Amino acid sequence: MVFSSKHFEFSDIPDLSDKVAIITGSNTGIGKVCALEMARKNCQVIIASRSEDKGQAAVADIKSITGNDKVEFIKLDLLSLQSVQAFAEEFKSKHNSLHILFNNAGVMMCPYGLSEDGLETQFATNHVAHYFLTIQLLPLLIKSGPSRIVNVSSFGHNFTSISTPDLKKINDEKEYGSFANYSYSKAFNILFTLELTKRLEAKGIKNVYVNSNHPGMVRSELTRHSVSKDSLMGSFLHNQVAISTEKGALTQLYLATSTEVESKNIKGKYYVPYAKPGCPNGYSKSEKNAATLWDFTENILKEKVPGYQGASI
Ligand SMILES: NC(=O)c1ccc[n+]([C@@H]2O[C@H](COP(=O)([O-])OP(=O)(O)OC[C@H]3O[C@@H](n4cnc5c(N)ncnc54)[C@H](OP(=O)(O)O)[C@@H]3O)[C@@H](O)[C@H]2O)c1
Repeated sequence: MVFSSKHFEFSDIPDLSDKVAIITGSNTGIGKVCALEMARKNCQVIIASRSEDKGQAAVADIKSITGNDKVEFIKLDLLSLQSVQAFAEEFKSKHNSLHILFNNAGVMMCPYGLSEDGLETQFATNHVAHYFLTIQLLPLLIKSGPSRIVNVSSFGHNFTSISTPDLKKINDEKEYGSFANYSYSKAFNILFTLELTKRLEAKGIKNVYVNSNHPGMVRSELTRHSVSKDSLMGSFLHNQVAISTEKGALTQLYLATSTEVESKNIKGKYYVPYAKPGCPNGYSKSEKNAATLWDFTENILKEKVPGYQGASI
């Protein structure tokens, strides 16, 4: 895919010696590249993945390539709110600071299914679990500021220009469209970014930089449920059109690490390859939609998570 010139390279990542980062879904794909490149710059990196085998393999790989021993696996299954809560508790019991939270893991166009909590798989994984994770880690991110949150969205959010979600029916099988629901979840990543930024500002919290991005069309395992790499179209898209995971990681690495994010006060924005400001579609930049989604997600958590008191922001 043709993108504008690179505005950011791995060599632009500053030294991250005193930084702690969590990257969801970093056993493979774009997330693993982010983990590797941040570990190269001496960051303490937590590989947050659902599979212990895959997560530990990524840890071993990154340690052997970089020589950085501060790379660790903590289990996180985004299809279970209980697992998200257990992850946050384990992380907080082991670490006193958190500077970078990458909400990167995702699923695309999977068959209809429900999470442990009865939420549609893409909605649960791509939005609700990452929202819940962020809310639980927010006090630590604020305390550790300046800190960054990167919500990995997609150009696919633009489908909401054609069809907008009815939140009340988001978990219904009858209403399910595998691409439509992916698109909705990726629009929610942008709306969450907007509302969280607004709430932080309203509380006078200036040291947490929350942004979202589209990584590009990237050669990864994301198409495992949609395009077969063996089909003619799949092979063309995979081999001729898509970019490498290394290139795909650049835009989110920029938002997570570049000194420009603080010097230019980049907050609540949506970035596209390579590390350039982009413009979300109408649905995804609506403050009203952002506030509605926030309340809707809060109500889900209050219903599904015993003892959930609501976001402290
Ligand atoms: N690739 C693209 O063209 C593209 C384009 C636009 C946006 N994006 C976004 O970029 C992000 C990264 O995607 P990618 O291309 O790197 O895809 P990928 O290679 O499929 O990696 C996705 C990661 O998410 C993890 N994951 C999925 N479900 C999970 C769960 N329930 N709990 C914990 N981890 C889970 C996967 O773990 P397992 O290995 O265990 O499944 C994997 O580590 C996603 O948010 C995606 O929507 C990608």
